[in-house]
Amino acid sequence: MRLLPLVAAVALSLGAAAHVHADDAPPHKRVAVRAAHLVDVKAGTVRDNPLVIIEDERITEVRYDGQVPTGVEVIDLGSATLLPGLIDCHVHLTGDPTEVKGDYYEAVLKRSSIDSAILSPIYAKRTLDAGFTTVRNLGASDYVDVALRDAINRGDIPGPRMLVSGPPLGATGGHADDTTGFSPWIEFHGIDGVADGVDAIRHRVRENVKHGADVIKFMASAGVLSAEASVGAPQYSQEEMNAVVDEAHRWGKKVASHAHGAEAIKMAIRAGVDSVEHSSMIDDEGLKLAKQHGTYLDFDVYNDDYILAEYAKKGFPASTVEKEKLVGRLQRENFQKAVKAGEKMAFGTDAGVYPHGWNAKQFAVMTKWGMTPMQALQAATVNAADLLGMTGKVGAVAPGYYADLVAVNGDPMKDVAQLEHVTFVMKGGAVDKNEIKR
Ligand code: ARG
Repeated sequence: MRLLPLVAAVALSLGAAAHVHADDAPPHKRVAVRAAHLVDVKAGTVRDNPLVIIEDERITEVRYDGQVPTGVEVIDLGSATLLPGLIDCHVHLTGDPTEVKGDYYEAVLKRSSIDSAILSPIYAKRTLDAGFTTVRNLGASDYVDVALRDAINRGDIPGPRMLVSGPPLGATGGHADDTTGFSPWIEFHGIDGVADGVDAIRHRVRENVKHGADVIKFMASAGVLSAEASVGAPQYSQEEMNAVVDEAHRWGKKVASHAHGAEAIKMAIRAGVDSVEHSSMIDDEGLKLAKQHGTYLDFDVYNDDYILAEYAKKGFPASTVEKEKLVGRLQRENFQKAVKAGEKMAFGTDAGVYPHGWNAKQFAVMTKWGMTPMQALQAATVNAADLLGMTGKVGAVAPGYYADLVAVNGDPMKDVAQLEHVTFVMKGGAVDKNEIKR
């Protein structure tokens, strides 16, 4: 009688010896999230009574029969609508306009990327709390973005999944050159992306890859928040743009190009970029080219409201506000044309130009200018995931995907502004916030 358990124990331990690792591993954590509705962004439909079953970081099953598997803890979101975690394909988590309080030069000359590194975790948390569980950070000095991404991935600080570009490439005197407009004697020390000519550009792409960039960003045209006179003129030759794309793609990195002007947009598309950011003055030929090449167009159509309302008060140079007036309205009209033309479009806000955490304000502008709420949401989920090369991981609520979930109280397909008030955020199976009291 007494021998039996002993024999069993010996047999068990012998058997277990081969599986020491499996036995020591923490048990899988299984939870389920229940809500009243789920927006299925892949199918473009809303389904009722969803139960999302999660094991560790990933979704294992989505069922609609109300049956909860035994032993699974349920997070019940009541009458809320569940959506996949949102994706913003264009942010700058290393800065925020609230840092500029009336004196632009104070902010530019008395701060460095050390200040950015201190403050960026705050912006990362605001972004995650707003329901954006994945972002693509398109431009930061001194690889602060790489450090931020890595700290989030290690679990040191909370924040969204990040793909980062490091310093954006651009021409001397152009949109990526921070010393334009200053005295020739002023020099900013630090790592930027200024590079001219094919060889220097290839070298600069390699540097960014070497130091941890996931994606390559470059300035195909002039811009609003920089000192050059033009807002949209091309700033690289065709040969230079081709070199950026050729080199980046060889290293397996996608390319995002900043471009406002019609000509610069077409040059970037011909060079083979994966996305055009801003796309403000795209013309009919540009729309056609984008379609032929399968290029994603990101239009940061909320920005104009904030810049025109706030930037003069903040002490930004008058030329910036003047340049914004040249592109703002046009960008929205061209966004509408792009929607009608059936272009591939992803959600990119350029948050950092406007406050982090306000990312979702762009949805209402997108629907005002021609998208349905479902299209706007797809731009920030399935389409964004495709652009980022993360299909199968993020951008949908489906088996195998990361358990990145958000919930809203109202019906976002009737009123897309509901997305500005997410009440529940989960990233990789971990609850970031839950304001649903039950
Ligand atoms: N980062 C961009 C630039 O400086 C912001 C453009 C904002 N304006 C707009 N209408 N989207 O060029």
